[in-house]
Amino acid sequence: MEKLTCFAIVVPGLEGQVVAELTELSAHDVKLEEGGVSFTATMDTLFRLNLRARCATRFVIRLAAFKALTFPELYNKVRKLGWQHYVGDGVTVEVKASCHHSKLLHSGRAEQAVLDGIAASEGMQNYRAGDAIQQVMLRIDDNICTISLDTSGERLDRRGYRHYSGLAPIRETIAAGILRWMDWQADEPLLAPMCGSGTFAIEAAWIAEKRAAGLNHDFPFVRWPSLKQKRWQRALKKAETMSSEIKPQIFASDLAAGVLDQARENARHAGVADAIEFSKLDVRNLVVPEGVTGKGLIVCNPPYGDRVKGDVRTLYKALGALFAGRFEGWRMAVIVPDQGCEHALGLPAKRRLKIKHGGKWVYLLEL
Ligand SMILES: C[S@@+](CC[C@H](N)C(=O)[O-])C[C@H]1O[C@@H](n2cnc3c(N)ncnc32)[C@H](O)[C@@H]1O
Repeated sequence: MEKLTCFAIVVPGLEGQVVAELTELSAHDVKLEEGGVSFTATMDTLFRLNLRARCATRFVIRLAAFKALTFPELYNKVRKLGWQHYVGDGVTVEVKASCHHSKLLHSGRAEQAVLDGIAASEGMQNYRAGDAIQQVMLRIDDNICTISLDTSGERLDRRGYRHYSGLAPIRETIAAGILRWMDWQADEPLLAPMCGSGTFAIEAAWIAEKRAAGLNHDFPFVRWPSLKQKRWQRALKKAETMSSEIKPQIFASDLAAGVLDQARENARHAGVADAIEFSKLDVRNLVVPEGVTGKGLIVCNPPYGDRVKGDVRTLYKALGALFAGRFEGWRMAVIVPDQGCEHALGLPAKRRLKIKHGGKWVYLLEL
């Protein structure tokens, strides 16, 4: 099978988790690069990655890279890329260009040149556009044009279960990445106080169940004229039948009753309402839940920043005290927005990871 040159677009900070995930899912030549992770894969592997990866934002195929100094040159080279394999009737192509340090700097004109090139390519004469979208990315750097074909459609963090999200929800890919960074295993009790929309708890329940993260996703490749239907169905069936007998101990809590109702509803949509025990609780009153005998992991994304009134540091101070007291011996992962909050915790971090969350750099600390 043909080996494709691919790229995983990743939330800044999660690259290491995606490298590990891609390697586990049998991608080859996996390399960390600016803005993501490059790798090679067959189409079968891309099916598997889209269905089963939890931490990457999207996967694209690098179709071509060539030099172009004029728009007609760009158009002519795009025309030869075999678009009839990827663009069928009923599909509208959307091109997003970014241009840097190059003769072609007008992204709008570059996008139009690519669209015109696609429309004029072999086998595309009778094609009719429709509602489905196929994204194509063009990056021009130092006059080298890289054309990428999207394979994921909507961002992969949009798993389809989060019908409600409260204040500053964490992306599903970040929550899964944090659980991976903490090497959380399904037999370790997990507490998610300040659970908001329930993302950590739901992602953990899916990991424990071995549920593939992309089962509800609409992938653009299912409309490619070149799709090998049998191979896709085989990958899909395999992902659908993955399961585990492990019954995890997952506890989610929040101060706000309305938020908890939404988290419960999200868990129901995710099919894991029975796997998570929800309770209304101020994190300051968090105790080891009944029935939990061993030590576990606490993971939390406390409120911070412009969205919060008052001094959030007192909350971080309370978290630090809680951890050093009632939860001694447990592991804890907490997101902190700045050094002030980290100091307020009053505990040394064993490890830290810088992640971009909600457009801002934050630190994830392991305590
Ligand atoms: C930033 S949000 C968490 C977002 C969550 N990770 C998600 O994906 O939706 C912070 C949450 O902490 C809750 N919260 C604030 N103070 C709390 C406290 N003292 N005890 C428990 N929960 C609290 C808020 O109700 C809010 O849902």
